[in-house]
Amino acid sequence: MKRRTIGLTARQMAFVNAGADEVLFGGAAGGGKSFGQIIDALAYAVRWPGSRQLILRRTMPELERTLIRTAQLLYPRELYSYNKKERIGTFTNGSTVEFGYCGAESDVYRYQSAEYDLIRFDELTHFTEHMYLYMLSRLRGANEFPKQMKSTTNPGGIGHDWVKRRFVDIGPPEQERVTSTGSRIFLPALLRDNAFLRKSDPSYEKRLLNLSDGERRALLDGEWDLLDGRYFSEWSRSIHVIEPFEIPAHWRRIFTMDYGLDMLAGYWIACAPDGRAYVYRELYESNHIISSAARRILELTKEEISLWYAPSDLWNRRQDSGKSAAEIFAQHGIELTRVSGSRIAGWYAMKELLRPRTDEQGKQTAGILFFNCCVNAARCIPAILRDQSDPNDCAVQPHELTHAPDAIRYFASEWRGNEECGESEDSREYQRQLENLLGYAQY
Ligand SMILES: Nc1ncnc2c1ncn2[C@@H]1O[C@H](COP(=O)(O)OP(=O)(O)OP(=O)(O)O)[C@@H](O)[C@H]1O
Ligand SMILES: [Mg+2]
Repeated sequence: MKRRTIGLTARQMAFVNAGADEVLFGGAAGGGKSFGQIIDALAYAVRWPGSRQLILRRTMPELERTLIRTAQLLYPRELYSYNKKERIGTFTNGSTVEFGYCGAESDVYRYQSAEYDLIRFDELTHFTEHMYLYMLSRLRGANEFPKQMKSTTNPGGIGHDWVKRRFVDIGPPEQERVTSTGSRIFLPALLRDNAFLRKSDPSYEKRLLNLSDGERRALLDGEWDLLDGRYFSEWSRSIHVIEPFEIPAHWRRIFTMDYGLDMLAGYWIACAPDGRAYVYRELYESNHIISSAARRILELTKEEISLWYAPSDLWNRRQDSGKSAAEIFAQHGIELTRVSGSRIAGWYAMKELLRPRTDEQGKQTAGILFFNCCVNAARCIPAILRDQSDPNDCAVQPHELTHAPDAIRYFASEWRGNEECGESEDSREYQRQLENLLGYAQY
């Protein structure tokens, strides 16, 4: 038998090896996702003789152009034959790979009586959540083969929101999460991972640079936080969300929170000597009355906190007890500091902190960075919208998106990191431009 060697990128290897019940390999165009599917399908078919796999695209022409063709190019002829009419490839060991599509919502019912060991979606964001969940129920069979859903996709598309919720928002990438319905993992795909394409088509990346801002961010950067009309357009997961590191004990720590019975959003922030703020812990829980909120915060706080920021409405007297929330927090040992300033001044300060800049090593960074455990901040800050009637302000609906940004805003309003380290002319100029832009832009 003639042997051909197939090299894989590190991310494709991670995709092949991922053992979670549901796997998503998603991100930049040209990251090698579809190729990864085809190779992984081959590996599975060979490893589990007699297994049944299904590979889905939204439409038939897409399926033929990409996956069917790639399989025919890559799979060894001695092992694999393809039946065009049935759209099924059969291996000599009895394994099969079926190629299918779901044009309309009801097309999934064509698979009503089918059973598969592994189902693959290519371009998952082109599918609806219903299609995905329905197909999930087709994974079954009285055999020992591992049952999995393995999907690949670019961001964007009609399914962007549900796919992001299901795989991207659940926590740090490349870490398996166990949920009540099984385990999931998200593996980001980056164009720079695909050395094969960069070698064979070095100008591909340049062509992507011509796209509009939103499309470029989705296809070139594999950026998931893409909502139109969002307030923090400077947000980029690849810049603002970072791997946790050991924080030096001498860095000053600040706590900031937005308190309500519907949600207590609290953040612990470490202030680096270079003026950068690192948000390293998140508390995001509902149904805490004030005393239980205070206890919960203290339970999570092992380090010394210099300041505890809270919004001024916590100083209003409450009708039931005659005491303010701030007084009750104080009784429990948390002396809050009241945050001053307007919402808009606070949002501006937060935008300034989030503004991407290049550090001494030439790496993109910002004045505030979030450890990847702060999943709600990383979900809500990029998603919060502009207020329709006042574009300088953030919208208060959907309400659930406001808690994390509000808490971070209280910190940003008070934070004088730049002053302590000498504010640069560059950042003052940016602030002026920002104010002009927000003041005069037409909405
Ligand atoms: N391991 C590999 N060895 C050789 N070529 C590869 C490999 N991985 C990917 N390629 C090639 O790189 C190009 C892009 O790969 P692929 O189509 O899989 O990317 P993709 O992430 O699915 O892109 P898109 O987002 O456009 O669907 C293709 O020409 C593919 O054949
Ligand atoms: Mg593809």
